[in-house]
Amino acid sequence: MDKYVIEGGRPLRGTVAAQGSKNACLPMMAAALLADGVTTLRNVPRLSDIETMAAVLRALGATIEWEGPHVLAVDTRGVDKYVAPYDLVRRMRASIAVLGPLMGRFRRAEVSLPGGCAFGPRPVDLHIKALRELGATVELEGGYVVARAAALKGKRVNLSGPAGPSRGATANLMMAAALAEGVTVIEDAAREPETVELVNMLGAMGARVEGGGSAEITVTGVDRLEPCEYEVMADQIEAGTYVLAGAITGGDVTVEGADAEYLSLFIGTLREAGVTVDVSNGAIAVRGNLPVAPLEIRTGPYPAFPTDLQPQMTALLSLASGRSVVVEGIYPDRFNHAPELVRLGAHVEVTPPTAVINGVHRLYGAYVMTSDLRAGAALVLAGLAAGGETNVRRIYHIDRGYEGMEDKLTSLGAAIRRLEEE
Ligand code: EPU
Repeated sequence: MDKYVIEGGRPLRGTVAAQGSKNACLPMMAAALLADGVTTLRNVPRLSDIETMAAVLRALGATIEWEGPHVLAVDTRGVDKYVAPYDLVRRMRASIAVLGPLMGRFRRAEVSLPGGCAFGPRPVDLHIKALRELGATVELEGGYVVARAAALKGKRVNLSGPAGPSRGATANLMMAAALAEGVTVIEDAAREPETVELVNMLGAMGARVEGGGSAEITVTGVDRLEPCEYEVMADQIEAGTYVLAGAITGGDVTVEGADAEYLSLFIGTLREAGVTVDVSNGAIAVRGNLPVAPLEIRTGPYPAFPTDLQPQMTALLSLASGRSVVVEGIYPDRFNHAPELVRLGAHVEVTPPTAVINGVHRLYGAYVMTSDLRAGAALVLAGLAAGGETNVRRIYHIDRGYEGMEDKLTSLGAAIRRLEEE
């Protein structure tokens, strides 16, 4: 296992480019299953989660090859198995994205139940409901979601969940419906740009999907889909994380490839905190002014403040000039970073779904441990701001979602090394 050793307290300066979007790419890799042939994805980030999805597709009989540093070819001609095994799905919940395309094309799928997540329960009831509504039989057997259908028939399906729309369930339903009979209307569909990206890719494969980006998506089933070539959008959560690296170190950082519209609420929130943010030509430039002003934020489904930037934002607010309140509207327990930030000198008190952060003047280096991807990113940010040396342990969580984080931060002037944990 590796760790990061960070000598904090240096303002970061310079420009980095956003990687391809992990969360857009994962369902797009699964979507390749809808066609027989080679689908080529460009701008694919090199991440362990992408390798896990590749392993899931290989387990189904697909051949996956890197044709360039960020070009991935998914050849589905050999697909002859329909089981996503426990050993892979337990590593990455997003493996459930093969459920919809397997049902769409082969009318059978067995996908291990993902189980718990480091930051609380993440059920898959909406994914199951979606398939049942199209006429599939879906049972839970031996820890697996076992789905079968003689035929899938489109209909109106409401996907409202307790925390609003589900991105994963919207993706699975769109992919199953693309090869179903008739018209499926998804009510309360996810509206994130990653969902729009999947809509566009399905369109490039010959699917008839309308309404991407709105709360109602209409899918008119077709008989077959063709493989396609598609360039994955930039990763806005990664981009936002580097924007915060500039803000939290009082530096001057430009992130290229960031989509200011996607991040508009995040950018507005940073400005409210007194951070200078300039947006132009697909780049976001940030100039940190510490201490930031305290804030009240609430995460929610797009276009609300993204939960995937909440831990990193909480790190910034630990250096605010007063009391901030962060309410988690998606995952009430997503505060693994809080006790670790406290180890660095932050004052954070959590009563789910809320964290109250009383800003401090300084953070101090310490040993901290990562327990999930975005919590890990938050600890790196705090370590960059902290005086002295911070050891961030178990960074394999960070490798799931950030390609070469230490290289990017080093290019901005950070003192960060990857070492094997002793
Ligand atoms: N939900 C249900 N039932 C379901 C599905 C979801 O109740 O069947 C609930 C969830 O528990 C959650 C909410 O609905 O409260 C939203 O979940 P969603 O299904 O949208 O999440 P997801 O598709 O599993 C994606 C991202 C996550 C991100 C969430 C929310 C991918 C691969 N993952 O997950 O990203 O937090 O949307 O925006 O796209 C990350 O990158 O760090 C990450 C966790």
